[in-house]
Amino acid sequence: MLKIEALDAYYGEAQALYAASLHIDEGEVVSVLGANGAGKTTLINALSGTIDRVGTVSFDGQRVDRLPPHVIAARGLVQVPEGRRLFNFMSVRENLELGAYSPHARAHVADNIDKVFSLMPRLAERSGQMAGSLSGGEQQMCAIGRAMMAMPKMIMFDEPTLGLAPIMVDMVFKLLNDIKASGLTILLVEQNVKHALAVSDRAYVIENGRVVLGGDAAELIHDPQLKVAYLGG
Ligand SMILES: Nc1ncnc2c1ncn2[C@@H]1O[C@H](COP(=O)(O)OP(=O)(O)OP(=O)(O)O)[C@@H](O)[C@H]1O
Ligand SMILES: [Mg+2]
Repeated sequence: MLKIEALDAYYGEAQALYAASLHIDEGEVVSVLGANGAGKTTLINALSGTIDRVGTVSFDGQRVDRLPPHVIAARGLVQVPEGRRLFNFMSVRENLELGAYSPHARAHVADNIDKVFSLMPRLAERSGQMAGSLSGGEQQMCAIGRAMMAMPKMIMFDEPTLGLAPIMVDMVFKLLNDIKASGLTILLVEQNVKHALAVSDRAYVIENGRVVLGGDAAELIHDPQLKVAYLGG
C-alpha cells in the first residue's frame, strides 16, 4: 500500500528526516514511535506533501512524492493532524462536510456522513454543536470523522490520544480497531507505546530523524532497547 525509500524532509534549510525507508501493507496498522522532536510528525507531513521532501514514496502502486497535498489526499492518503485542527466556530456536520474535498468524496457526502455517524454515534447526537465546544475526545472523533469523509484508503493518525482522559484514550483505540476492521490501512503515531503496540501489526522507531528499528509489534514490546526508552524499563 505504502512504500517509502530514502525519504529526506526539510523545514527550509534544516533537515528533519534522513533517508527514511519503510513500508506498510494493505490492511496493516503500523506504529511510528519516538521521543518528542524525533521526526514523527515530519514523516507524516512529508507523506502528505505539506513540507519539502526528497525520496521515493509509492502509494497504492503509484509515485506520490512529487504531488501536491490535495492530490495525495484525493488518491486516498489522508491524515488526522496533531492537535485536531477543527474549525471551532463551525458545527460538527460542517467540519465533516469540509473533509470531503475531492470531487469523488463530494459526490458521496450524505452516505459518508451516515457511515461516520454509525461509527461514532456521539457525533450524530452533536452534529449541530460548534466543534470548539466539544470535549477533547469528541473533537478527536470529529477530526477522525473528517478524515474519513475524504474516503481514504489509508489514514495517518498523529497522536490521536494526546491530552485525553483514560476513558477517552480507550475509546480512541477502540475506534482505531473498528477502522482497521473496516479494511483501512493505518499509520499511527502515539506516545502511548503499550497501547499503540497492542493495536499494531508492526512498528518502527525514529530517533533524531532516522528510522533506527522496525519489526513485529508483538516482538518489539519485548525489545530491550525499546523497553528502556519507552516502556519504563
Ligand atoms: N515548522 C518547523 N520549522 C522548523 N523545524 C521544525 C518545524 N517543525 C518541526 N521542526 C523540527 O523538526 C524536528 C522533528 O519534529 P517533529 O515535529 O517531526 O517531531 P515529533 O516526533 O512529531 O515530536 P512530538 O512527539 O513532540 O510531536 C524537531 O527537531 C523540530 O524542532
Ligand atoms: Mg509530532
